[in-house]
Parts: sequence; C-alpha cells; structure tokens
Amino acid sequence: MDQSQAEAELKALWHRGSDFLGTRYAIMGGAMSWVSERNLVAAISNGGGFGVIACGAMPPDLLAAEIEGTKSLTDKPFGVNLITMHPELDALIDQCIAANISHVVLAGGLPPSKGIARLKDAGIKVICFAPAVVIAKRLVRLGVDAIVIEGMEAGGHIGPVTTSVLVQEILPTITQVPIFVAGGIGRGEAIVSHLEMGASGVQIGTRFVCANESIAHENFKKAFIRAPARDAVLSVQLDPKFPVIPVRALTNKATDAFMERQREVIADFRDGKMDQKAAQLEIEQFWAGALRRAVIDGDVENGSLMAGQSVGMVTQEQPCSDIIEELVHQAYDVLMARLRREASG
Ligand SMILES: Cc1cc2nc3c(=O)[nH]c(=O)nc-3n(C[C@H](O)[C@H](O)[C@H](O)COP(=O)(O)O)c2cc1C
Repeated sequence: MDQSQAEAELKALWHRGSDFLGTRYAIMGGAMSWVSERNLVAAISNGGGFGVIACGAMPPDLLAAEIEGTKSLTDKPFGVNLITMHPELDALIDQCIAANISHVVLAGGLPPSKGIARLKDAGIKVICFAPAVVIAKRLVRLGVDAIVIEGMEAGGHIGPVTTSVLVQEILPTITQVPIFVAGGIGRGEAIVSHLEMGASGVQIGTRFVCANESIAHENFKKAFIRAPARDAVLSVQLDPKFPVIPVRALTNKATDAFMERQREVIADFRDGKMDQKAAQLEIEQFWAGALRRAVIDGDVENGSLMAGQSVGMVTQEQPCSDIIEELVHQAYDVLMARLRREASG
C-alpha cells in the first residue's frame, strides 16, 4: 500500500483546519505559560504545525517583543493566546493588531464580546475554548472563527469533562466553524479518530514540552520523561466552602504542601482565626509563581509541574519537527492499515 494514499486521506480529513491555520498540518501547539515562547512557537510552525505564544501574565510590551522575536525565527503562521482575565487585555489586543497577528486564541473564561469584535474588525481570526455545547453555540453566535474543545485529560487549568465525551457532544452539533480537539492526545491514531468524528484539527500541549527547542528547564523535562500518565493528577479540594481551581499537574512535594496548607487554613477559619475571604485568598495564592519556578528555575519539588495525562507518552527529548512527523506518520500508518483492509475486501 502506497503512503501517498494515506497522505491524501489525512490531507482531506484535516483540510478545513489546515486551511484555517494556513499550515501544512492541522496541529496547533497548545499555548503553555512560560514554555510557549518564541523558540518553541517558531519550531512548531517551522515543523508544519501552528505555534501559539502563551501571553500568560506578560505585560503588553513583553508580548510585543515576544511576537517580534518569533517573527525573526519563522516566516510561517503562528498565533497568540491571551488570558481573558488579564488586567490589560485591551492593550494586549492592541499589540496583536499592531503586529498583524493572524490568529488569537482567547482562553480562561468566557471571552468578552467587545474583545472578539475588536479582533475581528482588525481582520484577526478568533479562536475560543468551549467547555460545553451551549457555550460553543454562544461563541458561534458571537462570531468566533474556530473553537477548541479541551478535555480534562489535558495539562494546566481544565474543565470537568473528558475529551471522549466532549467530542461526542460537540462535534456532531457544531459544524459552522472548525473545531480543534485538545486533551490527552499523544499519538497520531488519536488525531485520526478525532478527525473522523468531525474535528478539523487538534491542539497538543504536553507532547511539546520536551522538544529540544523548548526552553523548559532540564529538571522540568526530566520530570516529564519519567512520569507515567497516572502521576498527572487533578488539584485536590478539601472543603467545598473553599474552591480550588482545577489544575492537572504531576504530583510532587508542592502537591502535598498544598493539601497541608489547605488543612491549616481551614482549621484557622473554623477556629475563628481567619475570615472566609482571607482563607480563600491564602488558598488561591499558594500556587502564585509556581509554574515559573518549575519551568524556568527547575525547582520541580516546590514548583507546579502542569502536565496532561499524555505525559506517559513523552519518553525523550527530541526536535519539534520529529515530534510532529512522528504524530503524522502514526496517522498515516493507521490510515494505511485501513486502506489495506479495504483493498483486501
Ligand atoms: C505547562 C502547561 C501550561 C499551560 N498554560 C496554558 C496557558 O497559559 N493558556 C492556555 O490556554 N492553556 C494552557 N495550557 C493548556 C494547553 O494550551 C493545551 O490546551 C493542553 O496542554 C492540551 O492538552 P495536552 O496537555 O493533553 O496535550 C497549558 C498546559 C500545560 C501542560
């Protein structure tokens, strides 16, 4: 069986996504705060995917510098991920418009309609996250150009529903815009299965952390290479009165310390030593700066090791283009096996 048939098949399966992104492959690099900076973003785009800068908490001038830096490393399309809660969201949007960015991903809560309209008026394609069908429908009405659905297998801040359920609920219902599936994708076979269900492409984060081009500290990369899927766990909430933001990360000393801190704070609240607002703030502030501590400083004991369950499929450090080609060839293999079965009757 000729690989070119599988190549044509895959091209047809994700052409809506790759046309939308302007890329060879409809693989978006999931923006990862501190990790998805110019080097990784450019490497993903140069490898045929679509790199996305994670703006995170960056101020507007730093974002502008990161965009320029990325442009100096690639002439391929790439996007910018903005967190909607950022206090300077409008100024960040201004920077994207000024830098002629083609695609902006709005993450972290429902995007403001004004922000969507400003980006669209400037000719920028807007991509938003939909954690449920109702929200996907609302986003389509607001005029977003594409949607990411991310299951709870993903690394970082997550929703409560698995990728396998989200794809069944949303892909058959929302056909007006391209949909990219994220969460738990570590191999090409999974990409094919989402595309065959109606996705236009995928978004992958965890698999790219250990790319050679990723600036993540070697301790952070080693932790990923060592970890099995079961170590990528959800943050634990001890008391319903004190909500904990759901984050998936590798277990480490900080995970235990977080439980201990919650216990202490809740006890202080019950003993009347702290009011509820102060106690909640204490819990929320525990992880402040923790991702940077792990990714940049390499403190994998006290930092946050945000990682998805696909971490078990991260087994070595390798060039970004190899990661992408590996995924694409796994997709070809599964399609070729199908074509062979069909040919043999
Ligand atoms: C270390 C890390 C940091 C992340 N930071 C962000 C972020 O800043 N903004 C965002 O929208 N998603 C963030 N994500 C989620 C990714 O963009 C992506 O959607 C997710 O990793 C996909 O699931 P996967 O990890 O199973 O591939 C982060 C994920 C990881 C692992």
